[in-house]
Amino acid sequence: MADMDTRRYYAENAEREWERLTETPVKGLELEGTMATLDDHLPDDGRVLDAGGGPGRYAVELAERGYNISHLDPTPELVDVAREKAASAGVAESIDHRLGDVRALPYPDDAFDATCCLGGVLSHVLDETERRAAAAELRRVTRPGGPVFVAVIGRLGAVRYGIKNSAESDVGPADWRVIEHILETGDYTEAAVERFGATEGWAENHTFRVDELETLLATAGLAPAEVVALEGIASNLHDELADADETAVEAIRRIAESLRRDRAAAEVSEHFMVVARA
Ligand SMILES: C[S@@+](CC[C@H](N)C(=O)[O-])C[C@H]1O[C@@H](n2cnc3c(N)ncnc32)[C@H](O)[C@@H]1O
Repeated sequence: MADMDTRRYYAENAEREWERLTETPVKGLELEGTMATLDDHLPDDGRVLDAGGGPGRYAVELAERGYNISHLDPTPELVDVAREKAASAGVAESIDHRLGDVRALPYPDDAFDATCCLGGVLSHVLDETERRAAAAELRRVTRPGGPVFVAVIGRLGAVRYGIKNSAESDVGPADWRVIEHILETGDYTEAAVERFGATEGWAENHTFRVDELETLLATAGLAPAEVVALEGIASNLHDELADADETAVEAIRRIAESLRRDRAAAEVSEHFMVVARA
């Protein structure tokens, strides 16, 4: 039986998750695009929720900018890493850490001036009704008018990864069926892998088209305001650009920045974000 359990994956890779956003120049684009977008929309100060904050990279960055952060994640190993990172950055007093789930947030209504749900958290909520519940929770805890930042795994970026990976490893028809299944449904699940007899891989996830995320947020009463391409057209070029020199990395960053508000670039991005208003 395939084992693609999300909780186990994050428990086993907790320390590595801290490095996730700095491992390659392309991953750096996700961090840079996310922080630039947060800086554009966040109020000057206040309380910010980091729902599914994982190892705390964004919680620490925001605490260093003076915000009071509530950091929440269901993976105890990641909450431990986030606590350690906050302590070593000297911002432990500005961050409250909690174990919890985005589908049932343990905070009162309107508790936050802004809410983040970054790096694909909603992609790990596999059931559509539960994704709607999670989006409604993000709205409920954010004060009216406050920004809600939701970044997910992009469906076309995932399919492109599948094409690249499968071509390189010369896999068989079953794996191609899974890639086509992701394109049709967005879902990369144990059930699909078993049904087609494909090779098991990464943690289960749901990948999104841009319209789909906008509709999910709008259905929860959030008003989508902006679509943001994160890795954008540099997506899936991790190995190719791993040793790029400084001139190349700077140029790639400029290109990514100039396409950050381009919807087509968001559609092919490994991760994209929608900024919405509560
Ligand atoms: C790729 S990590 C992103 C972490 C962080 N937001 C970032 O961008 O660096 C995905 C995170 O989603 C969390 N997660 C998975 N299911 C969740 C759920 N139901 N509620 C809240 N977080 C969840 C995982 O524990 C993990 O920390």
